[in-house]
Amino acid sequence: LRKTSVQDLLRSTDLDREVLVRGWVRTRRGNKYVQFIALNDGSTIHNIQVVADAEKFPEENLKGVTTGSCLAVRGKLVASQGKGQAVEIQATEIEVLGTADPEEYPLQKKATSLEYLREIAHLRPRTNTFGAVLRIRHAMAFAIHQYFNDHGYFYVHTPIITGSDAEGAGQMFRVTTLPEQNPPLDDAGQVDYKQDFFGKPTNLTVSGQLEGELAALALGKIYTFGPTFRAENSNTARHLAEFWMIEPEVAFNDLEDNMDLAEDFLRSLVRYALTHCPDDLQFLNDQYDKELLNRLKFVVDNEFQRLTYTEAVEILKSAKQKFEFPVDWGTDLQSEHERYLVEKHFKKPVILTNYPKEIKAFYMKLDEDGRTVRAMDVLFPGIGEIIGGSQREEDLTKLLTRMQEMHVPEEDLWWYLDTRRYGTAPHAGFGLGFERLILFVTGMANIRDVIPFPRFPKSAEF
Ligand code: 4AD
Ligand code: MG
Repeated sequence: LRKTSVQDLLRSTDLDREVLVRGWVRTRRGNKYVQFIALNDGSTIHNIQVVADAEKFPEENLKGVTTGSCLAVRGKLVASQGKGQAVEIQATEIEVLGTADPEEYPLQKKATSLEYLREIAHLRPRTNTFGAVLRIRHAMAFAIHQYFNDHGYFYVHTPIITGSDAEGAGQMFRVTTLPEQNPPLDDAGQVDYKQDFFGKPTNLTVSGQLEGELAALALGKIYTFGPTFRAENSNTARHLAEFWMIEPEVAFNDLEDNMDLAEDFLRSLVRYALTHCPDDLQFLNDQYDKELLNRLKFVVDNEFQRLTYTEAVEILKSAKQKFEFPVDWGTDLQSEHERYLVEKHFKKPVILTNYPKEIKAFYMKLDEDGRTVRAMDVLFPGIGEIIGGSQREEDLTKLLTRMQEMHVPEEDLWWYLDTRRYGTAPHAGFGLGFERLILFVTGMANIRDVIPFPRFPKSAEF
């Protein structure tokens, strides 16, 4: 007997044959003559209907067939008489592989809130919603690798444990093997990290960019795709302490090329989701957000709006809307400002460029005016910042000046500075927050619902 997935069976035109299917019971209903079991094996949002005749399967033999239990069903694949599905299985044999006590199983058929599901993150992949989100997440990861491979980029693996702070923002998780009780102390009475595993203080990476730049100045076009960590105490629906980031870096690209790449990349990914995940997207559209599919199509079909930070500040200052935080040239934009530009003013994705140097990282290339840098942020409806990037400062002297101004320790980054010492070149890149992309594509409202095991303050249960 060929092993087949529910997805394959539902698409099958080869009827009246014996099949074996295994999966988890979503619901069982029926009467004293016949029972209908909705079985899901994770391959698709759709269930397959298993029909169990009472003659062959008396009620007491189906006691273990409850919501959440796992079954192996043999039977005949036949055209369905009922509405809602083309085919169903006329069961000949039902084996309960694993029971799920209805008194205890937390995922009964009654609607469960997303907040409640977060508390049982170990079981929520069993729900339709998380099945859809996780399949879309997979499809997006695959599409990202495919996009870069098709365009001649090389995938580079950058370290997770590092001795430097790529963003210079001090939001790092320390990694240490020193004992909590009585750690070794130096002459000044401080914990002596020279005696630690790596011989210096280390932390989890906040970004693979700096190592990505080394690779781009050797291989030309590269990207990273890995976990990154930020110890920022942000309890928001857009921030995680552990998230995945995609960071392309390209030698000889300037800010204009960088924007072109970001826009083409994002529009390609959304197009991929629309063509490869139609059923899961339709489910999420119907269940949570009736505008989801329209929004995705809009992004595929329309160019992004590009403007400078300075132009954006002018728009915000003359806006009729009252903002909680006042806008003035030089201050960082708050999410209320970003949302106004994207959702009210332009009504489309926006790329903001040339921010004041004071509010951006040390590695960004200084503009001729000496006040702004070649930064770009891509802002999306409902999300805010989805991409942050820039053209990089390739001039050693200017870079050293910026590092001093921003108190970035030179001795930690001597290896990075070597790229500017030997064969430096113009280059640019950006970081896409993977979960922010998944938020946009799925239409989910909270970033904690688009990653299997979200890490946020006080969350390390699983
Ligand atoms: O803007 P960020 O901090 O930029 C960088 O890390 C650069 N090194 C990227 C580069 O130029 N190679 O982060 C990039 C993106 C953000 O635009 C956002 O989408 C996401 O990463 N991001 C987060 N996502 C979830 N939770 C957080 N705490 C995030 N912080 C940033
Ligand atoms: Mg940013």
